[in-house]
Amino acid sequence: MRILSGIQPSGALHLGNYFGMMRPAIELQARGEAFYFIADYHSMTSLFDADARRRNTLDVALDFLACGLDPQKSVFFRQSDVPEVTELAWILSTLTPMSLLEKCHSFKDKSAKGLPVNHGLFAYPVLMAADILIYDSHIVPVGQDQKQHVEVTRDIAIKFNEQYGPTFVIPEPQIRGETAKVPGLDGEKMSKSYGNTLEIFGEEKLLRKKVMGIRMDSRTPEEPKPDADQNLAIQLLKLVAPADVCLDFETRLRAGGLGYGDLKKGLFEHYWEHFSDARKKRAELAGNLDYVHGVLAAGAAKARAVAQPVLKRARKNCGLE
Ligand code: ADP
Ligand code: TRP
Repeated sequence: MRILSGIQPSGALHLGNYFGMMRPAIELQARGEAFYFIADYHSMTSLFDADARRRNTLDVALDFLACGLDPQKSVFFRQSDVPEVTELAWILSTLTPMSLLEKCHSFKDKSAKGLPVNHGLFAYPVLMAADILIYDSHIVPVGQDQKQHVEVTRDIAIKFNEQYGPTFVIPEPQIRGETAKVPGLDGEKMSKSYGNTLEIFGEEKLLRKKVMGIRMDSRTPEEPKPDADQNLAIQLLKLVAPADVCLDFETRLRAGGLGYGDLKKGLFEHYWEHFSDARKKRAELAGNLDYVHGVLAAGAAKARAVAQPVLKRARKNCGLE
């Protein structure tokens, strides 16, 4: 069984990325042949600074390895090191109805907001389909917001198989119910594009300030709060603290007597502690960049060895060979 997922190097990774995609992906690496990549081609649809792309790509590699991606168990690589994927994207685009892409949120949301949209952004789900199909992937662990893209991939693969004969594996998205949508500092979905993120690795003072700045309502500390489970700090605490600690905070908030300041202080401490081992590992990796580049190069070689025969199969079946 092949498991595959990708993440864009479009900015510092945050708790939404970690709990929605990275942790499930890391847990799955023991259960099959896992392929994880840094989607640098995809980042080109929204990031136009070459140095930032280089820097972010390395940062994602460091973050993912520090959080537990094990290159002995997973194939970890950079998307653009397997350029075959862009040829497959072209082939797939010829079977992709415009109407299918017009429905995709990635494009629809931006154009509805009047933001500039380029062809790459419109065609983004086709490249994503190529990413998934070129590795004969069975399972694609992603956050809720990517489910639609995996469904588009399935539609395209089914269409290709019908048109040109059995060629592609039909993949399944895998979405974790409890962390499908991690809330951000403002209660909306945590996202780089909304500026409401808590980074996995960041500067302590800044992160503390972000946590202490979470807006709460104006009820006094003494007031009982029957809706304690809806509290944003409690929801975030549940991601980073042990169950008994969460229950204790939630019970005290519900009963009254726990101030929001103390709750947020507790949240920050547990959040900081949750990533302390990963932080040490990341510092070690940052001091050994040759190793990191070596991991990506070895991953690219393995990924390419899988991609080339699949592309050949597709080329043959559609009459390019
Ligand atoms: P962003 O919205 O910050 O730009 P990406 O679109 O790059 O994040 O997402 C990378 C991965 O992380 C995807 O699998 C996505 O579903 C997941 N993800 C991003 N934000 C969240 C979130 N708030 N909750 C759960 N998963 C998320
Ligand atoms: N579009 C994904 C995101 O923004 C990243 C991605 C690119 C991806 N190709 C993929 C995820 C293939 C899973 C499978 O998060």
